[in-house]
Amino acid sequence: MKAPSTSANLGSGFDVVAVAHDAYFAEAYIKLTSGCGVDIKFRGFNPGSDNTVKRAFQHLFERLGRCWGVEAEVVNNIPIARGLGSSGASAVAALAAFIREAGLRVEPAVVVEAAGLGEVAAAGSPHFDNVAAAALGGAVVIASVKPLELVKFMPKLIFVIGVPDVPPMPEKTKVMRSVLPREVSFRTYVAQLARVSALVAGFAKSDPRLVALGMSDEVVEPARAPYVPAYGRVKRYALEAGALAVSISGAGPSIIALVEEKNSDVVKAAVERAYIEEGLRAEVKVASITEGALAQII
Ligand code: HSE
Repeated sequence: MKAPSTSANLGSGFDVVAVAHDAYFAEAYIKLTSGCGVDIKFRGFNPGSDNTVKRAFQHLFERLGRCWGVEAEVVNNIPIARGLGSSGASAVAALAAFIREAGLRVEPAVVVEAAGLGEVAAAGSPHFDNVAAAALGGAVVIASVKPLELVKFMPKLIFVIGVPDVPPMPEKTKVMRSVLPREVSFRTYVAQLARVSALVAGFAKSDPRLVALGMSDEVVEPARAPYVPAYGRVKRYALEAGALAVSISGAGPSIIALVEEKNSDVVKAAVERAYIEEGLRAEVKVASITEGALAQII
């Protein structure tokens, strides 16, 4: 079972918007055993004993009111701690594989809730944006957190995603959340409302121009940009090359640019050049909106 990489926030949609893209995938394989408890093998990476997959299973079992014996193998091809939802995708892929193997019918919101609570292992607090997109696919809006209410759109959007090869920041998401402003002015609040509205309207109408308006952000981006390597140059070069908008992917350090199909290669080359001029190695990919893990079992 596969779950895609994701980019949360998309500028103004902090913690309530995320897109699933086909840049990378995490995969999980499940075997049911007798007894109760989850044994997880991670291939190619080691998230430690307290990890999002283990926690997600605990929350799911709690919610379903029973326990299964599970052997899970997780192969994560999504770069870790890069703002691409790798920890959440691992958990979603594993839960989806388990649900299929056990022949269960589980509401998508229940899967997202369990995986989002599991994110505490990686981020220090629950958040549902990445896991919602990894599970449902498309562009997802969290319309309510309690109770969890998710809305999925399937707009045709193309992105250039830049993934710098920099040492992972310890406790990255926790740190990147700690730098956010505690308060905003009423004027900023109204301006941000307009941007988030543009994002959601853009998803609904599959209109990249509206999505681009929503990708600007005067609250989170200014606080986090200093911690995102090469962000200023990457953004400038991408926009000069014709990108419609650029924002930080999740909590960074990856960046996500919204592009038109006709200039995706030009923007990709511009982003590559920006990283080189900053003396950084980076993988830069053109990616499209894609389906989520649950599409494979519904
Ligand atoms: N919305 C979360 C944040 C995503 O920006 O902190 C973290 O991957």
